[in-house]
Amino acid sequence: MSKQIKEFFNQWNIYKKVIKHNYMFHIEIFQKLQYFLNQHQHQNLLDLGCGDAYHIARILKNSHITNYYGIDLSEIALQEAQQNFATINCDKQFIQTNLIDFIATQQAKFDIIIAGYSIHHLTLTEKDNFFAQATIALKPGGSLLIYDLVRCEDETQSDYLDRWWKYCLNNWKAMTSEELSLIKYHIYNNDYPETFAIFNKIAIKQQYKKVESLYKDDFYELYRFSL
Ligand SMILES: C[S@@+](CC[C@H](N)C(=O)[O-])C[C@H]1O[C@@H](n2cnc3c(N)ncnc32)[C@H](O)[C@@H]1O
Repeated sequence: MSKQIKEFFNQWNIYKKVIKHNYMFHIEIFQKLQYFLNQHQHQNLLDLGCGDAYHIARILKNSHITNYYGIDLSEIALQEAQQNFATINCDKQFIQTNLIDFIATQQAKFDIIIAGYSIHHLTLTEKDNFFAQATIALKPGGSLLIYDLVRCEDETQSDYLDRWWKYCLNNWKAMTSEELSLIKYHIYNNDYPETFAIFNKIAIKQQYKKVESLYKDDFYELYRFSL
């Protein structure tokens, strides 16, 4: 499964176009993330599934972050991430590995963990394990910020994917038909969106004290889970 995901994201130009045209509302989501970061004196930030880190680099320009760790399966995305971070004045590390393997080795190290459009690739059991490991990797009082695909409470995964795919086909006009067919294959074979209720249940089980929704639209949502 991760091999397929890695291969898809090594064709970074496809997803880069999605970001460029703001098809997954990165601008709106990162506005909220920037506001959140500016409210706090955070220092260590772990970005799981960082991709090319284009938007995070943009908002970290004048932040308090002193250490940034970008983790991704795709070497192509990480090469772009390093370029996007070239002028960002903090300690930065880019590591090519599976986010689950990485987080399992960390303890009380990070003020913030961000996982953006990366954990919908995990099964429900893996998501549960991910939340448990993130609890251990965060410092006391730290926050896990997740922006991702979120289905409605009464919607199955397959209904969400059908509804989303229809939306992409009608609205992602800059994509070629070949790109759309690769996206379609990726979505239907690798994406497992959950509902808010499921995220909330896992978070409570894994010791998070508070869950807040910082951004929401018809397909995507940004949550802050605090310890
Ligand atoms: C949709 S992109 C999102 C990139 C970036 N966070 C953003 O918001 O633009 C998902 C990224 O997660 C990475 N990814 C997916 N599953 C992963 C895993 N198990 N371990 C590490 N990276 C993963 C992919 O390679 C890809 O770069």
